[in-house]
Amino acid sequence: MLNFSFVNPTQIHFGDQQILEIKHSIPKGAKVLVVYGGGSIKKNGVYDQVVEALSDFDWGEFAGIEPNPSYQTCMEAVELIQSQNYDFILAVGGGSVIDGCKFIAAAAVFDDDPWDILAKGAQVNDALPIGVVLTLPATGSESNSFSVISNVETQDKLPFASALVQPQFAVLDPNVMQSLPKRQLTNGIVDAFVHTMEQYLTYPVDAKVQDRFAEGLLLTLIEEGPKLLDDEVSYQTRANVMWSATMALNGLIGAGVPQDWATHMIGHEITALYGLDHAQTLAIVLPRMLAQQQREKREKLLQYAERVFGLDTTDPEKAISEAISLTEQFFHRVNMPTRFSDHGLGEEVVQQVCAQLERHGMVALGEHQAVTPDKSKHILLASL
Ligand code: NZQ
Ligand code: ZN
Repeated sequence: MLNFSFVNPTQIHFGDQQILEIKHSIPKGAKVLVVYGGGSIKKNGVYDQVVEALSDFDWGEFAGIEPNPSYQTCMEAVELIQSQNYDFILAVGGGSVIDGCKFIAAAAVFDDDPWDILAKGAQVNDALPIGVVLTLPATGSESNSFSVISNVETQDKLPFASALVQPQFAVLDPNVMQSLPKRQLTNGIVDAFVHTMEQYLTYPVDAKVQDRFAEGLLLTLIEEGPKLLDDEVSYQTRANVMWSATMALNGLIGAGVPQDWATHMIGHEITALYGLDHAQTLAIVLPRMLAQQQREKREKLLQYAERVFGLDTTDPEKAISEAISLTEQFFHRVNMPTRFSDHGLGEEVVQQVCAQLERHGMVALGEHQAVTPDKSKHILLASL
């Protein structure tokens, strides 16, 4: 196992009716800016519950954070915060709203040009506190320190990370999932699955706890994910998927193990260029990434084949190819397409995505830095 330091300071309030809990979690006397997206929270009752819970607070709101939150929109919220002296941000939404709020929290108190946080990796030394009401289980953003922001003018989609923007608390009420369109449920299942794979499917370092936890998350998503798309869905299925998505990227399974993230970096470029949903890009890239990197990932692929899919590994090549194929079949089972052609995209993507990767210095990706531009090109070509 590799050395690590681990803390996850986000307090989770999980379960039915927990939105009211924000009343006790936001510091008394705070001036709260409620930030949300395109308005789904006004149709499904979440907004009303938040308003009720905030009855003792001085608060205002900022609406309109879009999926793949834009730098431009976030900067409008920064201006509002600065002019009205808000000192606490309550993010009510999915990964995009939460990521947007993380950037807003840092940018609102940043001395230089906030774009530098994303483009130059400028250090974040201060940020406003954030709380979250999660409405879409997928990214894990509710209890981690990462954020991904898009610049619509330059077609950049860039990540940043800071412990200072990690939410202080997050409410996870599985009932909020009732209003999610099937496309977003599918996205959430696939994103959580690929987050687990990015931290599990690298090379062995004898991290038995992390491996077994990761396998537990993968199995839960394989078992419960398809049920989430049925017409009748139980509270328990929603709860299990929601908790899996949080646990997949809250730092726990990634502590003390090598991490990959090449699929994500290529996926971000695809979203920036063509607007595909984040998880749609991952489902295209991951199967070909595993196939391309199968020599480097051999031992873990065999472990995955045996423990997650119950495959016989006496013929290792056959087991690896079956495990990759079963991964893709799982995406299909949750109605997720796995080819560029399914989205009306063709060969043009190969050259354009590779150019973006080079422009962003993404030229040595993965746990061995082995995914060079040439390898990325092969992965993309094989994914058409
Ligand atoms: O904008 P509203 O009206 O809220 O509608 C949203 C949006 O249209 C809707 N939605 C959310 N909750 C709903 C709902 N509709 C009905 N009922 C509800 N309960 O769903 C749509 C998509 O929302 P979005 O927040 O964009 O989805 P997701 O949670 O998948 O977030 C994706 C973003 O997170 C980034 C992605 O790159 C992408 O920008 N990621 C963030 C990560 C992190 N911070 O750790 C890691 C991930 O790998 C990922 O990169
Ligand atoms: Zn993701």
